[in-house]
Amino acid sequence: MIEAFGERAAVVAGVGGWVPPDVVTNDDLAAYLDTSDEWIRTRTGIRTRHRVSPGMATSDLAVEAGRRALDSSGDPRVDAVVLATTTPDQLCPATAPVVAARLGLAGVAAFDVSAVCTGFLYGLATAAGLIAAGTAERVLLIGADAFTTIVNPEDRSTAVIFADGAGAVVLRAGHRDEPGALGRVVLGTDGTLSHLIRVPAGGSRQRSLNRSHEPGEEFFQMDGRDTFRHAVERMTAASQQAVASAGWSLADVDRLAAHQANARILTAVGERLGIAADRQLSNIADVGNTGAASIPLLLAQSHADGTLAAGHRMLLTAFGGGLAWGATTLTWPKLPGS
Ligand code: UT7
Repeated sequence: MIEAFGERAAVVAGVGGWVPPDVVTNDDLAAYLDTSDEWIRTRTGIRTRHRVSPGMATSDLAVEAGRRALDSSGDPRVDAVVLATTTPDQLCPATAPVVAARLGLAGVAAFDVSAVCTGFLYGLATAAGLIAAGTAERVLLIGADAFTTIVNPEDRSTAVIFADGAGAVVLRAGHRDEPGALGRVVLGTDGTLSHLIRVPAGGSRQRSLNRSHEPGEEFFQMDGRDTFRHAVERMTAASQQAVASAGWSLADVDRLAAHQANARILTAVGERLGIAADRQLSNIADVGNTGAASIPLLLAQSHADGTLAAGHRMLLTAFGGGLAWGATTLTWPKLPGS
């Protein structure tokens, strides 16, 4: 392999997360949908999730998580803000510049990354690239989604899973051998299967047809059963590649932080990788599937409650619409103030 950027690496320097205060229980959903607490718990592992209140948007979630990550890093300055989201405040412009401005960072580079539930992994690769190329010394990467604003409340296969939240990390330029340095980010997509997860209306295709959309096309749609199968296969394969790239074996992994899509997917991936539940981080029972926020929110909460500690060798993996997937490794660093 050609070492294009020598020893310089992106190093995790801060972490933060936030969920909106409004909690939705399974019974709340069962009150108006043909579902039950028992079905949702056994088929998804979810007990509660959080929802934005009326008027709240993705930038509001992102600002809260971003501020906490900056505080955790001990330094409020960055050169770039990257926001991974599927639910931007509006189609144009990107949401990241607004988030940056509200964090007192007007003037810095800021843009959105669109890779649905794999957005945080694509964002890590993007931020690492900015740092490796010398474009930035410090990057704030936020994953934030207000999925309840695009899910059809009447669609029981998505409304019970998808939820709202945000998580963020600060990455700084450092050395590839120090704790917190990101390993190679393994990424992939298969656009032949893009129809499995989509929002059909609102983009250029539907608009250029000059027709109003059919009922339901403005909502998020997912073929759950097929997606489930691909999720297990792709996260397993990407994880194996990332671990091999780091020169580790799967037995070396202290903590797996996988996209919190469905507890049964997490179990299946864990079984294939030989990583038992006590080495897996999980918050799906409390927050559901928060899209691009899933992994950074999990990191923030696990760091706060001590299930993730300095020195843990970590494997991160995600999967979602695109189809898109990714994985990477790092050793969790000691963060300022912890
Ligand atoms: O985050 C990005 C990627 N997303 C994922 O990875 C999600 C992947 N998919 C899943 O998590 C699961 O496929 C779901 C949770 C969406 C669905 O669970 P499943 O075990 O795959 O159920 P299914 O789609 O095979 O449906 C089984 C049955 C069906 O009824 P019939 O046809 O057997 O009579 C569904 O209509 O369960 C029914 N069903 C429900 N029943 C009660 C589907 N959703 C519900 C529900 N409550 N909420």
